[in-house]
Formats: sequence, C-alpha cells, structure tokens
Amino acid sequence: MEAKNTIVFPAETLDLVQKIMKRYPEGKHKSAILPILHLAQAEWKWCSPEVMDYVASLLSIAPIEVYEVASFYTMFHLEPVGEHVIEYCRTGPCCLMGGVEVYDHLKKRLGIQTGETTSDGKFTIKEVECLAACGWGPVFQIREKFYMQLTAEKVDQIIDELSK
Ligand code: FES
Repeated sequence: MEAKNTIVFPAETLDLVQKIMKRYPEGKHKSAILPILHLAQAEWKWCSPEVMDYVASLLSIAPIEVYEVASFYTMFHLEPVGEHVIEYCRTGPCCLMGGVEVYDHLKKRLGIQTGETTSDGKFTIKEVECLAACGWGPVFQIREKFYMQLTAEKVDQIIDELSK
C-alpha cells in the first residue's frame, strides 16, 4: 500500500470532489461521504485507514465518522482485495434457490473461503446481504455487473472468462 503522504486524489478527481460537496448546504458536507468513498475506492482499490483519514480531511470531519460509514456498507473493502471482487448474496431467498451449493462450488473452484483472495490476486470472495435481485437468485455481483440464476456451470463459465 502507498505511503501515507501519497494518498491524494489526482487533480481531476479533486475537482469532482468539490462539485459533489457543492451539492450539499454549507455545514452539511458530511453527506458527501458515500460518493467520495466510492471515488477513493476506485482510486486505491480498497479503503485503508490512510484513505479513510484522507476522506475525513477532505470533509473536515473526524476519521471515525468515515470509518463508521465504510464499515457499515459491505461494498467498501476494508482489506486489500483481488482484481475481481465477487460479492455473493447470502440472504434467504437466494440460498433457498440453490445458492448454498452454488457458492460452495465457487469457493471450491477458486480454492478460497469467503473473505479470502486467490494467491494470484485475481479473485476475492465476499458475502453480502440481499442484492435486490431476489427473483433471479442465486446472485452475485462483480463491481456494477450482476450475475443471476447462477448454477455451478455458469460459475465455471464466468470464472473462465474473467481468468483470461
Ligand atoms: Fe439474494 Fe435478494 S435474497 S438478491
């Protein structure tokens, strides 16, 4: 991970941060935590304490206020992650539609457990709550893309494609 003093957004991202903060009334800039955390994660791949401290400094708030938000939402990575973060839905409907077996297959195929990253740094598996695609389960998400009605065969195809 970068040294602390290298945690600075590029100029164009800082411009975007300023635009985002202007959406909120004076004194309410804390409301920009989520979009700025998304920018930070896009820049540094995960939200290290140094990154969260930097976000807090941009918003002139205490670091704990950023830690609270980042640790609440599973979409923010608080540990280093692989190139592809597979976030599978562990909630009831997906599990009832075969999710348990499909996710077990995913773990076996990658040789890792939930919360781990493959040794080549290609894949991380995370467990998340309902992804709001309950009618099409089992479901996992990789960045903005949803993969639905998963089967072991579909999982293999997806992993094969992303491994190229
Ligand atoms: Fe899996 Fe809602 S229960 S998407």
